[in-house]
Amino acid sequence: MTTLFTSFSDFHLWRTSIPENQTVGFVPTMGALHAGHISLIERAKAECDVVVVSIYVNALQFNSTDDYARYPRTEESDFRLCADVLVDTVFAPQQKDVFPEEVVELLTPSQSSLGYEGADRPGHFAGVATVVDRLFRMVQPSIAYFGLKDYQQVAVINDMTSLLHPNIVITPCETVRADDGLALSSRNRFLTPSGRKSASLLSATLKKAVSLWRDGDARSIQLIESVTADLSQDSSIDVQYVSIVRNGTVEPVQTVSENDVILAAIVVDGVRLIDNMSFTNA
Ligand code: PAF
Repeated sequence: MTTLFTSFSDFHLWRTSIPENQTVGFVPTMGALHAGHISLIERAKAECDVVVVSIYVNALQFNSTDDYARYPRTEESDFRLCADVLVDTVFAPQQKDVFPEEVVELLTPSQSSLGYEGADRPGHFAGVATVVDRLFRMVQPSIAYFGLKDYQQVAVINDMTSLLHPNIVITPCETVRADDGLALSSRNRFLTPSGRKSASLLSATLKKAVSLWRDGDARSIQLIESVTADLSQDSSIDVQYVSIVRNGTVEPVQTVSENDVILAAIVVDGVRLIDNMSFTNA
């Protein structure tokens, strides 16, 4: 049976009842759960004795109050989904438990927060690092699971964890995609049908870059130009950035080698979408 805790003191009582030799897998979320989250939960269930999913919409990581207000809140169906896949505990804390202080002192995120999403969304990664640190303190997981769709977020969280929570293992998990290739995201629901069609070009162009690389073109600049040109052919797509970086970092590369990662962000229908793909021969 899945238990829901909304108060930290009740959660803490439950958490202290877990024997020390049991592994606790943790999937932090902001709710609006989809198949991408479920795949993280399944992985946690396969690897850990106990699984905790948190649901907390973190105001500190939004760049505008409008964006925060329009973020989907679907707690009841989120809880049902967690119960369906036999999550042990859903922790949906109140703000007063996560941030009891009046003025929150934000953590300074690592260098991995610079550029890309960090440049377009000032303060976003400080908010992410700060809330994940708080959640880690409360949940005390053995292993935490994050989706690689948010590539830069994973890099920032990895850095914060090595520094502040060296005993917690971060497990990045593969992006889950819809049939049209679009990476699953709670924001996809805001796309119109035509926007959705345009959005699917994002993964298609990244896939094409990987295949151009497999065919022998290792020049980063050429691959980036190809993706940008293909995306720009659709007038409803506003390309924010396309870049190729060394795996696990945000350092751009000039010559692409195995496991480097191509990152891109676009805006369609006013919805910001990000995606990335790894250069692998597999
Ligand atoms: O990826 C998310 O859903 C959020 O950024 C996270 C990691 C739960 C922190 O609020």
